[in-house]
Amino acid sequence: MGHFGWTRFMTIIASKATLSFDDNSTPVSLPVYESTIGPAGIDIRSLYAASGRISYDPGFMATATCQSSISYIDGENGILLYRGYPIEQLATQCDYVEVCHLLLKGELPTVQEKKEFEANIADDAMIHEQMHFFFRGFRRDAHPMSILVATVGALSSFYHDSLDISNPEHRALAATHLLAKVPTLVAMSYKYSVGQPFVYPRKDMPYTANFMRMMFSTPSEDYKVNDVLVRALDRIFILHADHEQNASTSTVRLAGSSGANPFACISAGIACLWGPAHGGANEAALSMIRHIGSIDKVPAFIKSTKEPGSHARLMGFGHRIYKNVDPRATLIRETCHEVLNELGLNDDPMFKIALEIERIALEDDYFISRKLYPNVDFYSGIVQSALGIPSSLFTGIFALARTVGWIAQWKEMMSDPDSRIGRPRQVYVGPIRRDVPPIERR
Ligand code: CMC
Repeated sequence: MGHFGWTRFMTIIASKATLSFDDNSTPVSLPVYESTIGPAGIDIRSLYAASGRISYDPGFMATATCQSSISYIDGENGILLYRGYPIEQLATQCDYVEVCHLLLKGELPTVQEKKEFEANIADDAMIHEQMHFFFRGFRRDAHPMSILVATVGALSSFYHDSLDISNPEHRALAATHLLAKVPTLVAMSYKYSVGQPFVYPRKDMPYTANFMRMMFSTPSEDYKVNDVLVRALDRIFILHADHEQNASTSTVRLAGSSGANPFACISAGIACLWGPAHGGANEAALSMIRHIGSIDKVPAFIKSTKEPGSHARLMGFGHRIYKNVDPRATLIRETCHEVLNELGLNDDPMFKIALEIERIALEDDYFISRKLYPNVDFYSGIVQSALGIPSSLFTGIFALARTVGWIAQWKEMMSDPDSRIGRPRQVYVGPIRRDVPPIERR
């Protein structure tokens, strides 16, 4: 199949919206743009010039910051599409490398295209040997996300061949560097934390199996590939690969809007992902399950998350966009069963606590009325833990998987003629102009 790299930057005006004001000032007519699916967008760019007013939307609850053709979520119906393909089909019929090709280039690869794409990435997976010194500067107990923020940003000082953001060839090269080298850095951050020697990538292994080998091989024992476990991690990668304009993706776009280089932008995305309300939720969900400790304590814990004014949240539940079951949660739940079965861990107490939380919360009015369902992070911690990945690395695994989405979104922004430096306005509520009093009279 040929690639047409589906990018629709043509704005099609569907209708007009008129904004009127209570004080009888002149109404403002605004164009409304069509989307292929999902809500149409009211273009308010002329609002300030036409009315002297600005829009107010903390958290971007009803604001689109770009046009995009990469991923689409229908939160009411629990649907996630990458370039139009349902996540369920991609997760069961494709591997992560094919999904990366789809997200970056717009179409799933042919057999030949996949071979070339994967070979290019494998060729580029080693990092500059001098990067090792960066690692040695970190404490052994440094959080892997702090190492990743630093080392991914530091790639910009090693790969000058891909820093000219106005050059499409440089942009493509930066994409390959990042896709190839982030797994190596994630595995190195793990090896460093456990005091084992770094394991170099191998060209003759598929992407995900190679990553697991870099994680788990030691000089005294080579990693034996287990197809069920590799497939499970590959599925985690697929499920986390892209997710519309989430906080970290928006951070990457905002950083990139100033012309910053792609390594710096992805490093900014990693920093944002680290937060417990975003990528840190899988680590937080597993800590919560460990903290609960036994099935009989589940009801009391759930009760504590519902108390008015409580800061405790049921981690791995709820989503800004999904007001129905997160389709990724369904797929990862299935993977969780497969992995525990393969490893003979069906009686795993953590998994039993998770099932009990899910059962109680899904019958509880508090969660039902607020449309709070399990999200992808609820089960991914259990799967990763069973694979031998420590919880401090869960968000790093998420960052590895999301790197392709961030790059695809950054590349899309770079070729969008509407793209401008991101610079939100504010509704100022501070003091009006006043004079500085002399220090003895303050
Ligand atoms: N446990 C208990 N109550 C909750 C939870 C939860 N996990 N999530 C939301 N609520 C309540 C919240 O207290 C509020 O109640 P009320 O209306 O009585 O004040 C109501 O539901 C709406 O919450 P919100 O904070 O306005 O919703 P939001 O869209 O701003 O937040 C969220 C979305 C994901 C940050 C939030 O649901 C949350 O903190 N969940 C736990 C963390 C988590 O699992 N995050 C991973 C998200 S999926 C991975 C990703 O895509 O990054």
